[in-house]
Amino acid sequence: MSKNTNFNQYFTPRKVADYMASLFSDLNIKSEINILDPGVGKGILAISLIKYILDNYSEIKKIKCVCYEIDPLIIIDLKKNINDIKFHFLENNVSINFEIRNKDFIREYTDNEKYDVIISNPPYEKIKSNSDLARYLNTKGISHINLYSTFIEISLTLLQENGTLVSIIPRSFTNGSYFTEFRKKVLESSSLTLLHLFKSRNLFQGVLQEFLIVKFEKQINSRMSLITTRVSESHDPFKYNEIIIDKDIVIDKENNNVIKIFNNYREMQVTNFIEKNGVNINLLGLSVSTGPLVDFRDIDNKFYNYKDSDVIPCIFTEHMSQEQLEIIWPLKTNKKGNYVTRNISPKKLKVSGNYVIMKRFSPNKNNKRFYSNIVPSIEDNEYITFDNKINYFHANNKGIDGITALGISLYLNTSMVEIYLNQIVGNTQLNCSDLKSLKYPELKLLRAIGFNWQNANMTYNLSNIDKVVLNVLKIWE
Ligand SMILES: C[S@@+](CC[C@H](N)C(=O)[O-])C[C@H]1O[C@@H](n2cnc3c(N)ncnc32)[C@H](O)[C@@H]1O
Repeated sequence: MSKNTNFNQYFTPRKVADYMASLFSDLNIKSEINILDPGVGKGILAISLIKYILDNYSEIKKIKCVCYEIDPLIIIDLKKNINDIKFHFLENNVSINFEIRNKDFIREYTDNEKYDVIISNPPYEKIKSNSDLARYLNTKGISHINLYSTFIEISLTLLQENGTLVSIIPRSFTNGSYFTEFRKKVLESSSLTLLHLFKSRNLFQGVLQEFLIVKFEKQINSRMSLITTRVSESHDPFKYNEIIIDKDIVIDKENNNVIKIFNNYREMQVTNFIEKNGVNINLLGLSVSTGPLVDFRDIDNKFYNYKDSDVIPCIFTEHMSQEQLEIIWPLKTNKKGNYVTRNISPKKLKVSGNYVIMKRFSPNKNNKRFYSNIVPSIEDNEYITFDNKINYFHANNKGIDGITALGISLYLNTSMVEIYLNQIVGNTQLNCSDLKSLKYPELKLLRAIGFNWQNANMTYNLSNIDKVVLNVLKIWE
C-alpha cells in the first residue's frame, strides 16, 4: 500500500478492491451500465469492478465508467493501468468507455448525471468549518465534516433508482454528534444494507482508524429491513464473522441514528438488554461533561505538588488506574503534579465532591479499553477541576452522593458496558455523547449495586464487579 499525503492518497489493497467488487453480486441487470469512481487514484477499484462485471454478468454489453481525479500526475498511472488490462476487456466483446475527468469532484460533479453503480475509496480529511470549502458546501446544503462524508453524500445523490454504492471509509461517521446530519441524510436517501468492519487500525498505513466498507442501495423492498454486518479481525476481507440483523437494531433512530456494529449475536443481545431496560442519564439527575482545564492554555503548563491556599486539586488521566476503584491521589511522582492554580475561569472550578471519571482517549491495545474511577471528596478543598482528557459524571455541576457514584462507576466497569461502548466507539476517542447514549440502571438499582459492593467486601476485579452488578440487574431479564 503506498500513499501520498498531498491529496489524501491511500490506495486500496488489491484483495480489498476485489472483495468490494464482489459485493455487486446482486445488480439489477440490463445491457448497459454506468459506473462512477470519484477519487479514482490509479484505478484499482474501477478496474476490479469492471473485471468482476465482465466475469459475472454476460448480459452487460456496454459499460461507461466516469472517473474523477484531482491529481493530474496520478492520472498517468491510471491511464497506464487501464491500458494494461484492455485486452481482458476486448476479449469479452463488451464496449467499455472510460471517461477520465481531471476535476475536483466536490465542486465540479454534474448533478443531472446518474449512475447505476458507484464504487469509491474517497479522500479523508476534516473540513475546517471556516474554510472556503465549508462555506461553498453550506450554500449547496451539503454537510461538510470530512471530505469522505461529503463524497458519500454527493455520490448518493448521483445514484440511480435501484443503484448500488460500495465504499470504504473511516468508521467515525457511525457515532458522535458531528456526523448526525450526515447520517440522517444518507439513511433517508437510501438503504444501508451491509457494513464490513476491519478491526485492525492499520489497513491504510499512517491512518490510525478503523475502516468500514459500506453498501447502500437505492430501492425499497422487504430485503432492505435487514443489515448484514461482517467483521474481519485481519486485513483479509474474505475472512469475516457475519451476522444479519434487523435494521432497527443496527440503526438507533432514537439516538441520532447512531450505527452499531456487532461482532456477534452475543454482543447484540447485551446491547438489547441494556437498551431495553436502562434509562437515559438525565433521568438519574446526572450528566457527563468533558473536563474543562486545558493545561497549556489555562495554566501555562504550571503544576504544583503541594497544597497551599492558591491551588486546587486537578485530576489528570495520570491519576487513573484499572487496578482500583478510586483514583490514585495525590501521586508522589507525577510529571503533571496534583494541583493547579485556583486562578482560572470560575466556570472551570467544580465544587469538591464525589465524581466518576472516564478517559476520553483509549488506545485500542488493552484487552479492556474503557474503565472508570471514583474521585472522592478531597479533604479541605472547596474546589477541584478536571483535565480536558477526562469525561466526568456530575449532578448538575456538583458531586454525586457516594453510594450512587459507587454504583455508576461499578456499572461502567462491567464487561457488558465494555461490549456496548466498543460497538459505538470506533476511533480512540470516547465522547460525552457516547456516554450520554449509553443507558443506565435506574437510581435505586445503581444504589443497590453500590450498597451490595460495600457489604460484599470483595477484591476489586472484573469478575467480582460483573457478579455484583449482574446480581442486582437480574430483575432486568
Ligand atoms: C484515498 S485515495 C483512493 C484512491 C483510489 N480510489 C483507491 O481506492 O486506491 C483518494 C483519491 O481521491 C483523490 N482526490 C482527493 N480529493 C479529490 C477531489 N476533491 N476530487 C477528486 N479526486 C480527489 C486523491 O488524489 C486520491 O487519488
